[in-house]
Amino acid sequence: MRKPIVGGNWKMNRGTPEECKDMLMNFVPLIKNLLNVDVVIAPPFTGLISAYEIIKGTNVKLGAQNMYYEENGAFTGEISPKFLKSIGVEYVILGHSERRNIFNESDVLVNKKLKKALLVGLKPIVCIGEHLEEREAGRTKDIIKFQINESFKDLNKDQMIQTVIAYEPIWAIGTGKTATPEQAEEIHMFIRGLISQRYDQETADSVRIQYGGSVKPNNAEILFSKENIDGGLVGGASLQAESLAEIVLAADKSFQ
Ligand code: PGA
Repeated sequence: MRKPIVGGNWKMNRGTPEECKDMLMNFVPLIKNLLNVDVVIAPPFTGLISAYEIIKGTNVKLGAQNMYYEENGAFTGEISPKFLKSIGVEYVILGHSERRNIFNESDVLVNKKLKKALLVGLKPIVCIGEHLEEREAGRTKDIIKFQINESFKDLNKDQMIQTVIAYEPIWAIGTGKTATPEQAEEIHMFIRGLISQRYDQETADSVRIQYGGSVKPNNAEILFSKENIDGGLVGGASLQAESLAEIVLAADKSFQ
């Protein structure tokens, strides 16, 4: 069985040292005894160090929202995965749809970042998902297949297993429109099938696939109860300690 994983993606919403500390001092006690779920908090870069002070030694792990694919050099404004590791970061979100759409990140770039993250020992959470027009045109599976082929190019079996996939239909992100559990499960099952074709059934059964897109306390339990949904990547509802804790609890229950 796959252990579910819940990520809190704070985006550019909560990033001062004080904001991060406040939220986490409330959040950590609420979920500290849960062992059936991996919990990751991804604040902006400016909040990572203070966040780590609070979560160090607890069951909450630190994630970054982005990184560059080189370790050092003349890349003004970019962040090295080595620097992230040095301050306690364990996970990194790659290819979020906001990075792809606002900052023009391509699957080729995501693939370079993914390979580097794995090389330096960061655990990647790679986001994929379709636009509304693509869904309406019946192209969701083609888009997902393309993103998997390109973003996960050249990964060996072990690397694939270490990679968390976040299926995030773009039309469901920050819109309050969640995919129905059936819509999400259909695509999660499809993704697992693609992994099985590319590798084998054992690899496909081991890879964790999170759902993201308006996950809230009131829909988390039903989403996570689906066989192929292994937790969630949460934006808006991860900003408050209580709502994120409820979602983490739902994931924990789904594993029992
Ligand atoms: P949301 O964001 O939960 O606010 O829809 C999810 C995400 O972007 O990862």
